[in-house]
Amino acid sequence: MRVLSGIQPTGRPHWGNFFGAIRQYISLQEEHDGFYFIADLHALTTVRDASALRQNTLDAALDLLALGLDPQRATLFVQSRVPEVSELCWLLMTGAGMGLLERCHAYKEKKAKGLPADAGLFTYPVLMSADILAYDAELVPVGQDQVQHVEVCRDLAGSFNHTFGDVFKLPKAQVMTDAAKVPGTDGQKMSKSYDNTLPLFGDEKQIRKMIMRIVTDSRPMEEPKVPEDDHLFQLYRLVAPPADVEAMAEKYRRGGFGYGEVKKGVADASEAFFGAARQRRRELEQNLDYVTQVLDQGAEKARGEAAAVLLRAQKACGLR
Ligand code: TYM
Repeated sequence: MRVLSGIQPTGRPHWGNFFGAIRQYISLQEEHDGFYFIADLHALTTVRDASALRQNTLDAALDLLALGLDPQRATLFVQSRVPEVSELCWLLMTGAGMGLLERCHAYKEKKAKGLPADAGLFTYPVLMSADILAYDAELVPVGQDQVQHVEVCRDLAGSFNHTFGDVFKLPKAQVMTDAAKVPGTDGQKMSKSYDNTLPLFGDEKQIRKMIMRIVTDSRPMEEPKVPEDDHLFQLYRLVAPPADVEAMAEKYRRGGFGYGEVKKGVADASEAFFGAARQRRRELEQNLDYVTQVLDQGAEKARGEAAAVLLRAQKACGLR
């Protein structure tokens, strides 16, 4: 089965990206034909600094490889290296109703906050649809926040097929139930735009500090608590070994523990969990030629696939 997903190079990847999405890329690459890309065209809607975008894109490739994406099994590429996707985006745009796009949350939220929005942000789900349809993807592993966009993709593909014949495969989103919406350091959804992220890579002391500053409630230590309702526990559960998670859950239910102790547990468990990836990243940083080569080969393969789908769509709607 063709599996596809993308991540925006808008800053350092965080726990939400990893547990919601990247972890799925890595497990799915074992059995399926994975296409994973760095969505630099999407990032252009927020990153308006050329050297930062270039650096973030390379960083994202290093991050994904360090976390275990294996170019022998999956195809890794940069979105803008496949111009066929932008062309396909236009074909889809001609059938994308304004009402449908107005309901999409990225645009709606920005507008609700009174922030200026541009056509790139408004049509963002159409480009995302082109990303998916260009490769005949069937399964799209994502976090909960992207499910709506995959639904839009299905709508656009379905209506194109209805008008012009059977051109596109209809994809499905796949969400991890235990990490559909990883909480941030303030308990809201972890997101770069809320400034509440825990990075996967970076200075360990600083990451530990960020963990120690996670916001907690002021209930007394002695009070028994429901572990699953607490965002600190939800984070602990992602990185700690199952036996430790069960022991911690028991402490919550009994009461008589301090959040400081849990935070230290999160920090220790996260160092152990991400330790190997951090080491691999340091090694990859010394071998950028290899990374460039992976991205070149990935782009070549992706272009071949996207060109065939684009041609199919062009013929169907009378452009050829
Ligand atoms: P992006 O870059 O915002 O996020 C990358 C992936 O991380 C997931 N994610 C989360 N999952 C759980 N909890 C969280 N707190 C959390 N925060 C982020 C996202 O759901 C996503 O799966 N539009 C996409 C990139 C994209 C794409 C695509 C994805 C472009 N084209 C085609 C799939 C298919 C985005 O902005 O992801």
